[in-house]
Amino acid sequence: MRCVVGLSNSVHLAIELARKLHGSFLKLSVKKFPDGELYVRFPQERLSGDVILVQSMYPNPNESLVEVVLAGHTARELGARRVVLVAPYLAYLRQDKRFKSGECVSNKIMAKILASFDEVIAVDPHLHRIRSLREIFGARGRHVSAVGVLAEFVKQHFSSCVIVGPDVESAQWAGVVARMVGCSFVILKKKRYSARVVRIKVSTKDSVRGKTVVLVDDMISTGHTLLEPIRQLKRLGAKRIVCMAVHGLFVEGALKKLRDAGAEVITANTIVNPVAKISVAGLLAEALK
Ligand code: R5P
Repeated sequence: MRCVVGLSNSVHLAIELARKLHGSFLKLSVKKFPDGELYVRFPQERLSGDVILVQSMYPNPNESLVEVVLAGHTARELGARRVVLVAPYLAYLRQDKRFKSGECVSNKIMAKILASFDEVIAVDPHLHRIRSLREIFGARGRHVSAVGVLAEFVKQHFSSCVIVGPDVESAQWAGVVARMVGCSFVILKKKRYSARVVRIKVSTKDSVRGKTVVLVDDMISTGHTLLEPIRQLKRLGAKRIVCMAVHGLFVEGALKKLRDAGAEVITANTIVNPVAKISVAGLLAEALK
């Protein structure tokens, strides 16, 4: 019998996962000491067998990471035989290179911080310069992709559309979704100047006039990567624009900005947000079986 534990950011997904795995569900109790330190407590004295901790590392990436570390070690101390971390959104992976001298390459350090877990499973982790989570976590790391569930959603809701990937890296989502759906796709080129300034050119030869355009990316953070093409796609006569992503972080009012720009928005439920309508519970359950 497996026990699925919902940590503070992912109780919804842990309940769904426990049901799919026919396992038991526990909710970790998390409080804050007056000085800001975290206090975590499992609702039972002993644990046994496989214990699966589910925690998305957004919002509050720093605190949610500390919660994961405290809970992982505690699960082992309480008797768990195997302790698995399911991180639907695994943070600290974007800094995967020393872009400027002296910088910390945080993705590699994550493997050390999470060394107490027997397995770490993430959904579409940010792997832009490496191919697999195993390159960071060794044999303990595994990732699953939500492209299949995104493609299923596109098939069911937007019968004829053009898929657009906002940058070269997005091809691993946009291109694959388009092939699964059987529609045409365009991958744009992005130049990022800072966290909030990007330039993307939608060329006029990409024919979108009168069409439904589905912009597909792995994550929406500030939304600037998608705001830029939305404006241009509208100018080029797109009939309907949908932004679709695996992880919807929506920082600094990004969801409102995208909607105000005239787009519909939909994401997978790796992070709790108002448009997280596509569930990844099924594919996580498959990965854990
Ligand atoms: C970048 O490499 C990612 O795939 C996303 O395109 C990016 O993180 C989105 O960020 P933002 O919404 O802040 O432009």
